[in-house]
Amino acid sequence: MLEGTLVRLRAPQRADIPLFVKWFNDPETTRFLLRGPPMGMEEEEAWYDSLVNKDMKVFCIETLDGRLVGNIGVISIDWTNRKADIGIIIGEKECWSKGYGTEAITLLLGYLFDEMNLERVWLYCDMENNRARRCYEKCGFRQDGVFRHNRLQGGKFRDDALLSILKQDWLENNPRP
Ligand SMILES: CC(C)(COP(=O)(O)OP(=O)(O)OC[C@H]1O[C@@H](n2cnc3c(N)ncnc32)[C@H](O)[C@@H]1OP(=O)(O)O)[C@@H](O)C(=O)NCCC(=O)NCCS
Repeated sequence: MLEGTLVRLRAPQRADIPLFVKWFNDPETTRFLLRGPPMGMEEEEAWYDSLVNKDMKVFCIETLDGRLVGNIGVISIDWTNRKADIGIIIGEKECWSKGYGTEAITLLLGYLFDEMNLERVWLYCDMENNRARRCYEKCGFRQDGVFRHNRLQGGKFRDDALLSILKQDWLENNPRP
């Protein structure tokens, strides 16, 4: 378990699946995500079961009083080049812009750089997802480039920013004692 001052990251449990399904069926929440509605219980249960055999780490984000508000995870790890891409969702919308996402990402980055010894953590972010872009910027991510017309969504091609943070950037902002 990884704990900050606002949230902790804990292992997911089967009982969390209904909330995941609720979040991924909300078009406002998934507006900028690769994966949108509809999502069914069986599909999510199959994904949950597959986690055991995958090189993938998923954490639940819960407030310190134990409310499950989102999840965050490593999508894939490239061990040769020591890099990984991550994804996050704060599914409880009234919890947006309270600093939970920034702290959850910071906790995950600490784990990935300090415990798993990764060199680079990266993600794609829709250019119009301004809340997410601000959040990643606060965590120390930098924009590597823009993938124009990277995805077709709702009949419109969307541009994605490629964002990354290196271990050296992380250490600059989080010096070792
Ligand atoms: C993106 C997400 C993970 C961010 O988590 P969060 O807890 O809402 O983010 P934080 O509160 O830590 O930081 C958000 C920052 O953006 C700012 N912000 C909010 N709305 C904004 C907007 N429309 N434009 C610019 N900045 C905005 C907030 O004020 C805050 O910055 P500040 O601390 O300088 O004031 C969360 O909102 C979410 O899950 N959204 C839906 C799914 C999603 O988009 N996932 C990311 C896919 S790349």
